[in-house]
Amino acid sequence: MGVVVSIANQKGGVGKTTITLNLGYALSKMGKKVLLVDVDPQFNLTFALIGMDVINYSDKNVGTLMTKESSIEDTIVEINQNLHLIPSHLMLASKEIEIINTYNRERRLEKALKPVFPEYDYILIDNPPSMGVFLVNSLTASDFVLIPLELSYFGVIGMQLMFNLMKMIREETNDSLRLMGIVPNKFTKQTRVPQMRLKELKELYPEAPILPTIPKSISIEKAQGEGKSIFEYEPNGKASRAFEKLAREVVRIAEGEE
Ligand SMILES: Nc1ncnc2c1ncn2[C@@H]1O[C@H](COP(=O)(O)OP(=O)(O)O)[C@@H](O)[C@H]1O
Ligand SMILES: [Mg+2]
Repeated sequence: MGVVVSIANQKGGVGKTTITLNLGYALSKMGKKVLLVDVDPQFNLTFALIGMDVINYSDKNVGTLMTKESSIEDTIVEINQNLHLIPSHLMLASKEIEIINTYNRERRLEKALKPVFPEYDYILIDNPPSMGVFLVNSLTASDFVLIPLELSYFGVIGMQLMFNLMKMIREETNDSLRLMGIVPNKFTKQTRVPQMRLKELKELYPEAPILPTIPKSISIEKAQGEGKSIFEYEPNGKASRAFEKLAREVVRIAEGEE
């Protein structure tokens, strides 16, 4: 039965898309069947996986799925045998109004995904950096939240916003939502600031699990620029190993407790 994980943070540029993509690849390499869902109107994840083909999905994307204009079977794109995608699209931003005005608007994604839960081990949802109907749908459909974080002053302070939102979701639509953990991203030991922030983070939120860190790596940026995962770009590098370690920890948390 698919474990649903939202990769979320209201801050932009912290690595949500990068982590969704590379964690998805890492899990699929472990033999897990993975579905990636892109609910960000900026469709960065979709573009990374299918490039300009995105224009061909105007009537088969996460927006049309949520308004029931397309079926789940028709909306899933096969990237490889173990890795599938529900794409986002340019028109998703305009769909937002339509979805807001429909019945059961917070549960549209959950209901749409439910029929394929048994077919996947992991469903990873990449989210927009705004607290709108897509993020609420994503958290309502999820078992876990994984929060990528850049260890900056405002990054650490901003965690409170995510925790407030999770509390609201638990009260209103999904009482079993759990924090899988925080992933410190773009981590570097070249300056002392990230380690200092990491210490502050642990002091501020002692209950929040800290997952394996992802190093700051030029290969990650370059891979993304070429529309590749880090495993296709530099399979034996430090960044690939970090994502493998993160994937093992995700599996331990998600499956160890079942
Ligand atoms: N660990 C990392 N090392 C270097 N660059 C990174 C790393 N993680 C993300 N980036 C880069 O930072 C930028 C923002 O990442 P992205 O995943 O798009 O963030 P978000 O989805 O949260 O907006 C991208 O250009 C990406 O390539
Ligand atoms: Mg993104």
